Amino acid sequence: MNTPATICQAALNVLLEPDPMTKVAMSEAYGAQWLSGEIDAISGGDKEPIPERPARPEKPELIDPAKMPRRTAGEKGRVVLLHAIAHIELNAIDLAWDIILRFTGDNLPKAFYDDWTKVAADEARHFKMLNDRMNELGAAYGDFPAHDGLWQAATKTQDDILARLAVVPMILEARGLDTAPPSSIKLRAGGDDKTASIMEQIAEEEISHVGAGVRWFEYICKKREIDPISHFHALVKSKFKGDLKPPFAHDLRARAGMDIRYYDHVS
Ligand SMILES: [Fe+2]
Ligand SMILES: [Fe+2]
Repeated sequence: MNTPATICQAALNVLLEPDPMTKVAMSEAYGAQWLSGEIDAISGGDKEPIPERPARPEKPELIDPAKMPRRTAGEKGRVVLLHAIAHIELNAIDLAWDIILRFTGDNLPKAFYDDWTKVAADEARHFKMLNDRMNELGAAYGDFPAHDGLWQAATKTQDDILARLAVVPMILEARGLDTAPPSSIKLRAGGDDKTASIMEQIAEEEISHVGAGVRWFEYICKKREIDPISHFHALVKSKFKGDLKPPFAHDLRARAGMDIRYYDHVS
């Protein structure tokens, strides 16, 4: 794999790659190359093109979120759950590279790119862990349909970095912190400690992703002299379909540095 000249070129390469495991390998390699300084430029002179949507494999078929089959209990339910989360992680890989590529006009410091290349490499590892576990259970990514809700959220926030940070890490990834503990408890109760451990490790690492979202949201708000809490609430209304649903994992959200006023009593 050649070393890209800039982190935006790296981002573009990943977004244009349809094969999930190649996306994973590229994300891990580019993440390490940015960390070691082997890639040290953010963007080239000419702005890289930004794909409308990332390249994806032929399977899974993407269907309307409302038409997704209900999750069932037992062995099949477990694999369907793993598949749904693997699909979220694959989207998360592309979302991390998309935020790197899309918002260079906001002139953010190098630390912004440090955070999101690390997120991309984490998401890549998460996808691999889930896919490996599915393989052990006799299934693979692509075996079930998946929905396109995450990329729809990305499209809706493609012109505004504050909207993107609010909706993706601060609403959707934070929601993952709320739902992960009960689902790992359920898995352990059903005797699947191995899948539960994977879910727990992923949830622990997601705290830093929500944390990066909060940090950069507040950094940009401060620069633009915007009140972060009230602006966040305005974005929930204008850019997010639905409400923020309790129960909230207050402890995990606090560890991500998320002030309770962001998500409790949104009016
Ligand atoms: Fe993840
Ligand atoms: Fe994440």
